[in-house]
Amino acid sequence: MTVVTTTPETPYRERKPRHPVTQFILSQPTGSAGLMWYQGELELAKAAATAGIPFILAMGALTSMETITKALPDARKWFQLYPWEDQDGSYEMITRARDLGWEALVITIDSGLGRTREYNERNGYAFPFKPNVRAAVDMMMHPAWLWRVMRKYVMNGGMPTNANYPERYRFSIIDGKKRVAPKRFEAMTWEHIKKFRDFWPRKLIIKSVLSGEDARIAVDHGADAIIVSNHGGRALDSAVATIDILPEIVEAVSGRCAVILDSGIRRGSDIVKALARGADLVLIGRATLYGTACAGQAGAAKAIEILAGEMERTFGYISVRRVSEIGPHIFAPRNLGM
Ligand SMILES: Cc1cc2nc3c(=O)[nH]c(=O)nc-3n(C[C@H](O)[C@H](O)[C@H](O)COP(=O)(O)O)c2cc1C
Repeated sequence: MTVVTTTPETPYRERKPRHPVTQFILSQPTGSAGLMWYQGELELAKAAATAGIPFILAMGALTSMETITKALPDARKWFQLYPWEDQDGSYEMITRARDLGWEALVITIDSGLGRTREYNERNGYAFPFKPNVRAAVDMMMHPAWLWRVMRKYVMNGGMPTNANYPERYRFSIIDGKKRVAPKRFEAMTWEHIKKFRDFWPRKLIIKSVLSGEDARIAVDHGADAIIVSNHGGRALDSAVATIDILPEIVEAVSGRCAVILDSGIRRGSDIVKALARGADLVLIGRATLYGTACAGQAGAAKAIEILAGEMERTFGYISVRRVSEIGPHIFAPRNLGM
């Protein structure tokens, strides 16, 4: 099957990926990949590079952007930032990404206010880790993880750190007492986005846009792309479903920037539905993260392969041969077997 690259002016479609349908998938920032697998972010980045898709490194990752650059000099690498109140700290990180030649800066604009996570209170997970009985028992019950992940960190230089943070914030993940956690920038405004725009020389992408109005404002402030994301429900649990709000946003930006859909892609058919509702690309968070947790690079690659295969199969079921044939008509009852 051939997939036509429809709009030559859309920069994300310029390079030919290995698997034809993966040009519509990006690998998402998920801060804890490095806890699930030794240098999990690097594993994920390798899988993305092999599939020909860009990889987004979360700023909270345990693998540094320098390590990833060294391992994958030619891969497409995007850096994700949660702006901090300590603006100098934010700029220190993106200066590094800029000087390493990273292709895009992704600024996540939700999550500034934190969230309630009872499950983490129950299971004793905190970052930095605070020793507690529950978590200790949990770790003892996962000896394979201790051996495969933690032992490797300890053997290769010690407990991991938030390797992309400026030195003054970079402490071991178990060094809870010493650490002064940087505060997210609650009072951020679009003017701050404009400053990031003026500073960052390449693509600027705003993640977590959930209304047509915000999408328009983001474009007016220089965004090259927006990510329609509700953070997978991890920020505001009652946020709108991204697939529902997508058409309003596509209409609002009317081709002035690329629109990327995130949150809830679990099957290749979800990718097709997102494209049918107007997305240019989709982002995959948990699917590849869970793949990484199971088998590192091979696991992430398997998740991408499954999604790409399902997407192709969906093409067959709805009788389209190329992406340019996908549109709202695919939701017609006959295509859904009704
Ligand atoms: C464990 C985990 C860590 C995450 N860390 C980040 C992060 O550091 N930065 C960010 O912008 N989004 C982060 N996210 C949100 C994802 O990028 C994505 O928006 C969300 O998971 C929805 O996509 P999904 O439904 O495909 O998982 C994280 C999500 C998960 C599950």
